[in-house]
Amino acid sequence: MAMQAHPVPEVRVLDAAENAVPLLLGELREVVARNARPLVSFATGGTFAAFFRSLDAELRSGQIDGSGFVGTHLDEYIAFEPNRRGGMVHELTLRCPALRDMLARGSFLPVPCHGAEGSLRAHEERLARAGGIKLQFLGIGRNGHVAFNEPGASFEAGFHVTELAETTRADAAPTFVPDEPPRRAVTSGIGTILDADRVVLCAFGRGKAEAVKAMLQADVSHSCPASALRSHPNALVLLDPEAASSLDAAADVAS
Ligand code: PGA
Repeated sequence: MAMQAHPVPEVRVLDAAENAVPLLLGELREVVARNARPLVSFATGGTFAAFFRSLDAELRSGQIDGSGFVGTHLDEYIAFEPNRRGGMVHELTLRCPALRDMLARGSFLPVPCHGAEGSLRAHEERLARAGGIKLQFLGIGRNGHVAFNEPGASFEAGFHVTELAETTRADAAPTFVPDEPPRRAVTSGIGTILDADRVVLCAFGRGKAEAVKAMLQADVSHSCPASALRSHPNALVLLDPEAASSLDAAADVAS
């Protein structure tokens, strides 16, 4: 009898990274149209910079109604309050100032940045009261991390405090010059990410190619935290040709 394979996320290879922007805006529009004030969780890495510029324009022009959803995000460096330079919320609101307005109105829920256990459980309860995450945007680290779930992370965990991998710190370093990049962060766990109704992961550039291959075509393994997504029934992966360049040609990918 054939074994039931892990469901593989839908994978689309785009001609260019910027072609993801209308697709990501479309994902947001659709979840807002289908749900009453859904909770949408954003990824804050550079991968989503162009998306956030467009989102800001759409929120300001009213093409996307900022009162139509509640926002949150994946992770934050320890002790980085929303207004501290280099922090995830700070970077996010620089790219998308309209989200700063949502933060001020209480409709953007920042990850508690001090890591106290009670604050993490309270944050999870807030997310649950907001209906749970309907749409989760996600990037991937070149070591296969998702949020700050570094290689070896549990696939079941909720929000927790974690040590950052050296590749993660090296990638973050330019933002913090002349200071050292942070060593610890609060992160959404893979369990929380897998609980989202829909997950849309983007990876662009040659530097992500090996992580993308491990995510999609190696065994599901803690050595590539993103491979946990292969057990998600409603995940979409958007790649540019460079990020897709290590995938086997036989891959079940659309363009
Ligand atoms: P990036 O980060 O979007 O800045 O490449 C992605 C990640 O590390 O998850």
